[in-house]
Amino acid sequence: MRSTARIARAFAAAGALTLALTACGGGDDDTSTSGDGGGDEVVTVGFVAVGPEGGWRQANEANVQDTFTEEAGFELKYAPATNLDQRSQIDAFTSFVDEGVDVILLSATEGAGWEDSLRRAQEAEIPVILVDRGIEPDDTDLYVTRIAPDNYEVSTSVAEWAVSAFPDGGNYFVLEGPAGVSVVNERNQGWDDTVGSAANLVKIGAQTANWSTEEAKSVFETVLRANNNDIQIVFAQNDEMGLGAAIAVEEAGLTPGVDVQIATIDGTKPALEALSEGRLSFVAEYNPLFGETLLDVVGKVLDGEEVEPYIIVPSETFDSPEAATAALPTRKY
Ligand code: AHR
Repeated sequence: MRSTARIARAFAAAGALTLALTACGGGDDDTSTSGDGGGDEVVTVGFVAVGPEGGWRQANEANVQDTFTEEAGFELKYAPATNLDQRSQIDAFTSFVDEGVDVILLSATEGAGWEDSLRRAQEAEIPVILVDRGIEPDDTDLYVTRIAPDNYEVSTSVAEWAVSAFPDGGNYFVLEGPAGVSVVNERNQGWDDTVGSAANLVKIGAQTANWSTEEAKSVFETVLRANNNDIQIVFAQNDEMGLGAAIAVEEAGLTPGVDVQIATIDGTKPALEALSEGRLSFVAEYNPLFGETLLDVVGKVLDGEEVEPYIIVPSETFDSPEAATAALPTRKY
């Protein structure tokens, strides 16, 4: 474990190098960087990641790896979970503490069960920054900050669309992410706090489809059959599940965007393409590309500066085929 002064010097060196590379468009997209970053002061970053999960996750983790490169003065140790298993994440976290990395980035597959790991990092004076996912209970004394878009606000924007699009009411179904994941609870809260007060929107049910297109298709085709197709709205908590619901609607002989309107969260290209075709009706971006913000925050933290406990990444919404068509040429994920 290095002294804060040495880390600060390392970060200053990394920062200067980053500025130089940014000016000349340098950068490296190695998945796992190692070795000496052009000097003897390299900042080691342990990234306890989720790994393969869908388009959003791929964009987010690639952006982090493209930012914390060897050329920018970092050694990024990328540790994706094994089959989304929290045990493998805890093991990687423990290894990073034992190795004495300078900072740990954590995207948690589960909201609960992190207290022991976080206390070990605290005892080793290794700052922990939450990337995207929160932890429960949310004890900011155990980590330095969380960087993510605001799930509550993002899901509230979906709920506000539903209330405005269905002034005469309708039946809705929610396709949730996996139980126990922090963003699922936050998205449910944002939706419920707005839709719950709209008397004429009726919740038919909610079920997890584990972020998966195939599973969402299977779940929603069952829901349509069980309700004689009398569902007007689907709130899918990510794009892949919304696209699965659209396939189920089509296979039931219905038209998505007409018989059933589907709203999703993430803002990946496949979702915006579906919105431009009218197969989805509303897409709320949950911006995954915050590597530069993360870099800035890591620098501040390693320099001993105070940072906010929750750093919100701005995101936008898309509410029409025209909006999606206009955005697609410049989308980065
Ligand atoms: O934590 C963010 C969520 O995880 C995204 O909305 C989803 O696509 C990903 O799997």
